Amino acid sequence: MAKQTIRDLDVTDKKVLVRVDFNVPLKDGVITDDNRINAALPTINYLLEHQAKVILMSHLGKVNHKDPEKVESDKAKNNMAPVAKRLGELVDAKVTFVNETRGANLENAVAALNSGEILVLQNTRYEPGESKNDPELAKYWASLADVFVSDAFGSVHRAHASTVGVANYLDSAVGFLVEKEIQNLGDALDKPDRPFVAILGGAKVSDKIGVIQNLLKKADKVIIGGGMAYTFMKAKGYEVGTSLLEEDKVELARETMEQGKDKLILPVDNVIADAFAEDANHKVVSSDAIEAGWMGLDIGPKTIELFKKELEGAKTVVWNGPMGVFEMEAFAHGTFEVCKALSELEDAKTIIGGGDSAAAAIQLGFKDKFTHISTGGGASMEYLEGKVLPGIAAINEKE
Ligand code: 3PG
Repeated sequence: MAKQTIRDLDVTDKKVLVRVDFNVPLKDGVITDDNRINAALPTINYLLEHQAKVILMSHLGKVNHKDPEKVESDKAKNNMAPVAKRLGELVDAKVTFVNETRGANLENAVAALNSGEILVLQNTRYEPGESKNDPELAKYWASLADVFVSDAFGSVHRAHASTVGVANYLDSAVGFLVEKEIQNLGDALDKPDRPFVAILGGAKVSDKIGVIQNLLKKADKVIIGGGMAYTFMKAKGYEVGTSLLEEDKVELARETMEQGKDKLILPVDNVIADAFAEDANHKVVSSDAIEAGWMGLDIGPKTIELFKKELEGAKTVVWNGPMGVFEMEAFAHGTFEVCKALSELEDAKTIIGGGDSAAAAIQLGFKDKFTHISTGGGASMEYLEGKVLPGIAAINEKE
């Protein structure tokens, strides 16, 4: 990788500003999944071991600055305090939380920070200039530190003040998480061991078309499941009942099938239901026999067998997007079986591209069974699309 990494920086006794992605799910102020905090620990611990003064910043949720009534409730909902508290339980160092994103209190706390200690700023999105990549804000944050480390892989697709702007004013490097994500996703895309199979699911063709088209160029097979498969089935001339359908993408699906030819693998049967509900009546039908008033909510058993066969012998697999509504037990079987099949592949690099498929793999008990589960949802999607990620592009190249 041509970017500087944290190992290239002299961090001892330096103030190191680290952009992490601590955008963790919270329910009533309680963190329900601290994976993203754990994923940043290698970088944080390295900095502590090297006696750096560690200043962490992250966004949390969204703050709608356009609606004055929402600003305060969004801020209250997305307060970084519980995240800083959880971090304090995970590291062997003093963690100070500053309930501010700028001003004298913050500057005093930075001045009082000792080597081997951590300071956590309040949510970067409390600042209206964050999402606009406001140069004045970026310059201010940069003024708090000596060097900048980007370790927020989940946010590198955002050109914000804390992800891109600050890098204009400080020497910069990527942290261990960003390095690991790029290595895993990059190797899979650019130098895969073959056969290379991609499995793509999720609700919408419009969200995934960039990934499908890029992977059709790179992979040996591209398997399509999930809600978006019904737009492809419509393009084949099948009826899809009340299944998810993007009418305006049917033509695009048809063109993609022509482009993909035998490389593109679609479901042959589906679990259909008479309502979008856990307790709906459901049954298995062929993909060309979906009845009016019924919706496809999962892939069927023949499709599972077909997908498993396509996966046999694969040496690289990239999976992005669930095969069905895995949040409902009745429609989780397809996603579970794909997860299981991937976890049983021998000698294969198995990469999960973040977002819902990462959540599914973890929820279904396969967390440790893959080569890599990306911490980025949108970021890994954009990486798989072959896009330039601004939060990585902004980092200094190795000399
Ligand atoms: C994510 O959860 O995908 C990242 O933290 C980015 O969050 P965002 O979509 O609110 O920018």
